[in-house]
Amino acid sequence: MSSELRFAVIGAGRIGLVHSGSVTDTNGAKLEYVVDPIKESAESVAKQFGCKFSTNPLEVINSGEIDAIIIGSPTPTHVPFMEAAIDARLHVLCEKPIDLDIKNVNQLREKVNKANTKVAIGFNRRLDPEFYAVKKRVEKGDVGKVEQVLIISRDPGPAPQSYIAVSGGIFRDMTIHDFDMARNFVPDIIEVSATGANSFCDYIKEENDFDNVTVTMKGSNGEIVTVINSRHSAFGYDQRIEVFGDKGMLQTSNITPTSVKYSTKDFTSSQDPAPELQTGGPHTLFF
Ligand SMILES: NC(=O)c1ccc[n+]([C@@H]2O[C@H](COP(=O)([O-])OP(=O)(O)OC[C@H]3O[C@@H](n4cnc5c(N)ncnc54)[C@H](O)[C@@H]3O)[C@@H](O)[C@H]2O)c1
Repeated sequence: MSSELRFAVIGAGRIGLVHSGSVTDTNGAKLEYVVDPIKESAESVAKQFGCKFSTNPLEVINSGEIDAIIIGSPTPTHVPFMEAAIDARLHVLCEKPIDLDIKNVNQLREKVNKANTKVAIGFNRRLDPEFYAVKKRVEKGDVGKVEQVLIISRDPGPAPQSYIAVSGGIFRDMTIHDFDMARNFVPDIIEVSATGANSFCDYIKEENDFDNVTVTMKGSNGEIVTVINSRHSAFGYDQRIEVFGDKGMLQTSNITPTSVKYSTKDFTSSQDPAPELQTGGPHTLFF
């Protein structure tokens, strides 16, 4: 048996590409397969990362050639692939959302709880080093009793209309990361209100969805969480959080390629814009 954890990435689209790069760059992990029913997509991503490809997810899941899968295929495939992978005793990292219908999520819960492998959902922001550091310091008591959490989350640009059409809407597709982050700091949410607008994207409006939303949540200890989302941001992937308590405040700002500041007679400082959604880079395995 290989000493490396052998992975298959299911879905060779936007996020499948990111995961394929991450597995390839992770010590102790080996990308064995990229799988997509569109042969050209599977083949081209597999070629990029030097692994095998397949058009048949279930065949790969049951092949005995892999230890773990990353499910980055469209949302309606998540539950069936998770079930098959758990049955095949594979570790699973599945992209969010698990499903658009909470009944299907709840039905899966029992199987996941009984799985003797690791099952994780792609709420990547909890593991973002900056957000993780804030969480650890809040746990240490650095801000005292948490009173307010402000989460700002903006994508560089909207996904294509075909994706928006089946995404389940901005709240289930995008704000879901911020709901997860809110509960990371305020586990017991008792009240939610939200508003949405169509500020810039006609095709999002055509799909009866919003491109600009705000959510306010109340926690049972008197905390208020505010989430601000936009489907676009002129200066890149904008991810910030502020946690305010009776003893102080913790804030993160966007990671930029450089912290170098430049000052002249015309302006005092300058930084490159925030990066696009990152691909690759060294990662640590959490299995
Ligand atoms: N965690 C995040 O930040 C994040 C970001 C983007 C997308 N996602 C999630 O990832 C999933 C995919 O999103 P995307 O943007 O990569 O979509 P995408 O449309 O770019 O890619 C999906 C890929 O899956 C393939 N596919 C379709 N049916 C399949 C099947 N039965 N088996 C295997 N592959 C199949 C498609 O051919 C396509 O190549 C969605 O559930 C989305 O919510 C998560």
